Amino acid sequence: MLNQDVEKVIFTEEQIRNRCEELGKQIDSDYADQPPILVGLLKGSIPFMVELMKHISSKIQIDFMDVTSYSGTRSVGDVKILKDLDRSIIGENVLIVEDIVDTGKTLAKVKEMLYSKGAKDVKIIALLDKEEGRLIDIKSDYVAFKCPNEFVIGFGLDYNQDYRNLPYVGVLKEELYKE
Ligand code: IMP
Repeated sequence: MLNQDVEKVIFTEEQIRNRCEELGKQIDSDYADQPPILVGLLKGSIPFMVELMKHISSKIQIDFMDVTSYSGTRSVGDVKILKDLDRSIIGENVLIVEDIVDTGKTLAKVKEMLYSKGAKDVKIIALLDKEEGRLIDIKSDYVAFKCPNEFVIGFGLDYNQDYRNLPYVGVLKEELYKE
């Protein structure tokens, strides 16, 4: 079973739900004038998007983008669009929903793309922020939790596409990804 591959749990399902409740309220108040379009980056953002949107009371819409920038446990350079947005974002407030910000390369590119599509404002909300991993000076506007500089899985986060369905965030046993 998946649980056996987890070294330790770092954020429980309940902690994540409580934090999403707080963030949902904050988004309602910060975007009182013009609610945002939530743009989830597939596939890691799905559980976080689902939990977060339940706690937002304003009239928001959601959309998804799929970009590649990562393989195995190391970030790689460029970002390619595999699935683009379904709707126009011209003049809209966009809130990018991301599982984790590590080097920041993915988000820097996506943010630039969304502005070039005519968004009025683009902000970022991330479930986890690995501040020590940052190579590009980009900040998440909203962060659920600061993440230790370890390889984490669960609640959307994967290792070679596995473990996304764990209901919590945990650290993967090192022998499973180190050669
Ligand atoms: P960045 O461009 O380096 O910020 O990469 C962000 C992406 O890297 C995330 O969307 C994740 O897919 C992946 N990533 C970074 N750190 C981890 C981790 O600890 N576990 C799983 N995926 C990670």
